[in-house]
This record gives sequence, C-alpha cells and structure tokens, in this order.
Amino acid sequence: MSPTTHQWTPTHGEPYRPVAYRPDRMPSSESLARAAELRVRMDERRTVRQFSTDPVPEQIVKDAVACAATAPSGAHQQPWTFVLVKDPEVRRQIRAAAEQEEEISYDGRLGDEWLAALRPLGTDAVKTHLTDAPHLIVVFQQRYWLGPDGSKRKHYYVDESVGIAVGMLLTALHLSGLAALVHTPSPMRFLSHVLNRPENEKAFAVIPVGYPADDCEVPDLVRKSLDQVLVEV
Ligand SMILES: Cc1cc2nc3c(=O)[nH]c(=O)nc-3n(C[C@H](O)[C@H](O)[C@H](O)COP(=O)(O)O)c2cc1C
Repeated sequence: MSPTTHQWTPTHGEPYRPVAYRPDRMPSSESLARAAELRVRMDERRTVRQFSTDPVPEQIVKDAVACAATAPSGAHQQPWTFVLVKDPEVRRQIRAAAEQEEEISYDGRLGDEWLAALRPLGTDAVKTHLTDAPHLIVVFQQRYWLGPDGSKRKHYYVDESVGIAVGMLLTALHLSGLAALVHTPSPMRFLSHVLNRPENEKAFAVIPVGYPADDCEVPDLVRKSLDQVLVEV
C-alpha cells in the first residue's frame, strides 16, 4: 500500500547530473490555438457533488494520478501520496466519519463567517459522493520524509507542492472527461486512522471521481474575469 519511497532518490543516487533538454518548439500559431482551446475546456470544469454510480475505468484515474505525480515540488521531494480507496467498507467508514465531523461543523463549529461563505454553494453535512462516486482518491501530504529505520528528513514547501499536484490531478481528470470534487472535511485526522497512514502523512483532500449524476446540479457561480485576476506591471 505505501509507496517505496525508501528506494527512490531524486537523481539516480548521484549528485547533480545535467542532461540535455531540447523539446521541439511548437509553432506559436499552434500554441495560440491550443491555449485558446484549453481556456474554453478548462472553463467547462465544474465541481460535482452528485455522482452517477456508473463505472469508470480505473486506468483513467491511475493515469491522472501519474500526471499529478509529474508536478514540480520543493527540492523535488514529491511530498505526496495518493490513496485510491477501493474497499466499499472503508469508503462507508470514511463517509460515516466525515459526516459526523461535518454535522458538528455545519452545526456551528465553522463559525458564522465561514458558514456564510459556504451558503451560495448549497453544501450540507450529507456527503453521498463518498460512497456513490465510482472512485475515491485521498491525497496525503508527507510533512517530512520518513525512512524505513524511522529516520526523518525535512520536506520543503509541502503545502505548495501538494496543491500544485492536486491542481494537475483535477486538470488531468477533467481533460479525460471525468468530474471530481475537492472535499476537505474538517478536521481530517480520521483519514490517517481509517487508511492506516504513517505518522509523517497528513490528509490534504478527499477527491471523489466519476461522471455527474443524471440529475446533477451545480451552483450558478461567477468566475472572476481575466481583468480581475491578472495584473500587468
Ligand atoms: C482547497 C479546497 C477545498 C474545498 N473543500 C470543499 C469541501 O469540503 N466541500 C465541497 O463541497 N467543496 C469543496 N471545495 C470545492 C469548492 O467549493 C469549489 O471549487 C468552488 O465552489 C468553485 O466551484 P467550481 O470548482 O465548480 O469552479 C473545495 C475546493 C478547494 C480548492
């Protein structure tokens, strides 16, 4: 279940070893066309909270995880673990524990300001996606490296690195025709216990994956325009 990180070294076990990198340069006309197409495709991505139970080939999800694992990371430490939860009983346990936490959260633990920010999304403590979606990925961040003998080494920029990897995971899933949700039940400590993760790992997000349900609805959200997010200096 756990990746064989102890067998892995960032540069084949050697100190700095440069190799040539000469990718073919894409003609700018093609770049422009691709960028424009991607912009439209990415704008079609929506967070889905109601999933169809229709099966999805597992290989699509594994390929998307492999895409995510190509992400850049601080000092190339790749501080992530993706747990694909296949056992229906474990998924039921995750849903029960998540809903228990979410009930307390929605009952007031989040505080008025946070609850007000969530209201336009129409979310509540019921988390059907945890058992309905055909696939469930739980992403963990490796707060530090833990060797087989218990030795520890510091990891750098863990939040940033895992956030970028999850962004790439969502992009890969979307461009492969699948829908996903980034679910962050708060607090998430129960996930380490249910999934029996080592002490250096901390849950980052729960990501159900599949097709939207036939009657799926999403909030009619407005995305900020390019003018609102881009500053040119
Ligand atoms: C870090 C992060 C945490 C999130 N946590 C939750 C969550 O716990 N539950 C949920 O329903 N949506 C969650 N979302 C999804 C956001 O609500 C969603 O991305 C946002 O409303 C924009 O909608 P869109 O993804 O369809 O553009 C989370 C998203 C991010 C990036």
